[in-house]
Amino acid sequence: MKKLYIETLGCAMNERDSEHIIAELTQKEDFRLTSTMEDADLILINTCSVREKPVQKLFSEIGVFAKKRKEGAKIGVCGCTASHLGEEIIKRAPVVDFVLGARNVSKIRDVLDKKGAVEVDINYDESSFTFGDFRNSLYKAMINISIGCDKQCSFCIVPHTRGKEVAIPADLIIQEARKAAQSGAKEIMLLGQNVNNYNDNGRDFSDLLEMVSEIEEVERIRFTSPHPLHMDDKFLELFANNPKVCKNMHMPLQSGSTKILKEMKRGYTKGWFLDRAFKLREMVPDVRISTDIIVAFPGESEEDFLETMDVIEQVRFEQIFSFKYSPRPLTKAAEFENQIPKEIADRRLSTLQRRHNEILDEITDATKGRVFEVYFEELKSGGRVAGRSDNGFMVMVEGSEELLGKTKEVLIEYPRRTALHGKVID
Ligand code: 5AD
Ligand code: SF4
Repeated sequence: MKKLYIETLGCAMNERDSEHIIAELTQKEDFRLTSTMEDADLILINTCSVREKPVQKLFSEIGVFAKKRKEGAKIGVCGCTASHLGEEIIKRAPVVDFVLGARNVSKIRDVLDKKGAVEVDINYDESSFTFGDFRNSLYKAMINISIGCDKQCSFCIVPHTRGKEVAIPADLIIQEARKAAQSGAKEIMLLGQNVNNYNDNGRDFSDLLEMVSEIEEVERIRFTSPHPLHMDDKFLELFANNPKVCKNMHMPLQSGSTKILKEMKRGYTKGWFLDRAFKLREMVPDVRISTDIIVAFPGESEEDFLETMDVIEQVRFEQIFSFKYSPRPLTKAAEFENQIPKEIADRRLSTLQRRHNEILDEITDATKGRVFEVYFEELKSGGRVAGRSDNGFMVMVEGSEELLGKTKEVLIEYPRRTALHGKVID
């Protein structure tokens, strides 16, 4: 048997693509997985291109792998950077055997033995391709509900790497969810670039959530990423009232300034975002709201940045993924004037992160003595087991594999920013 080593960068979508690739190669070809790159016959790097850093990392990784690999081992580059750089990857790094775009995952078996193959068609429709079965976790399953993205956010390269948005037929999604839940994955994570824009012949995302929740074996449903623009009342009401839908909402703000939001082509204003966030807090008192923020977008003035800080004060996000703006090829914003100097970007990012950490410390401290229902999914070192509360806090307790796949009540004793530590009380 041949051995496959795969490194995955980027988002949940990429993780799921890697699972699909593993399934194709281990079930329809003669591969098994290895975690030691030096032993592998095939080395795959599943790349991200959302910011410049992971792209640079790709080329340094290729160099390291080329040097340390087993003689004759092949190297393949997949994912979003594969989509946008295509054959340039092989030109820059001739050791690479093939390039497979983020929307061409189902063609992995075709390129495997073709030296120099480049499959990066972003219009390729693999929405009803039947992949083999493979999941990294026994206890939770990621399921794609759509591929691609029709938004044109001016900072974002993803429409150029994953192409036009196509909904995966609801029946296929339900079939996958049922299969996963019956095999023990009681938590289902629905994935798409813009999940709440889902539409399969009139069935919208709220309808889809409802359908998944009707599968008896499914206990918890999560999803990523929704778009604030499409958070209509129907969606918020379903989110609030369906007991299987976990009360953790990702609301990617990007900027708190209506002027910058317009430049970003986000389609909403600061006022709309706050209205949705407040409504959510009111309907679901225990909701955990996470967000993505970009600082120093071209033309961002100090006042614009303070608008973002104001949203942080008002919404008090439980989690913030914050980034310095990174100009990306093929995007509109890369051509904007008024790119912000690095020193200012660094200062804004650290101001934001410092303030968020203060807020987070208050939120974290307030969990001490509270009880959460935790679904355990992973063994950690030191005899600990980790899981998540319904609203998405990472929780750790002392215990063994017996807890895995079970939901228990946990009393929080030592809350930390990264995880709440406690003990099982039931
Ligand atoms: N620069 C910085 N951050 C970006 N993101 C997307 N594109 C860029 C960019 N050009 C961030 C957004 C998005 C998250 C996945 O990555 O905040 O929500
Ligand atoms: Fe995921 Fe976007 Fe990175 Fe592609 S570019 S891997 S869609 S985060």
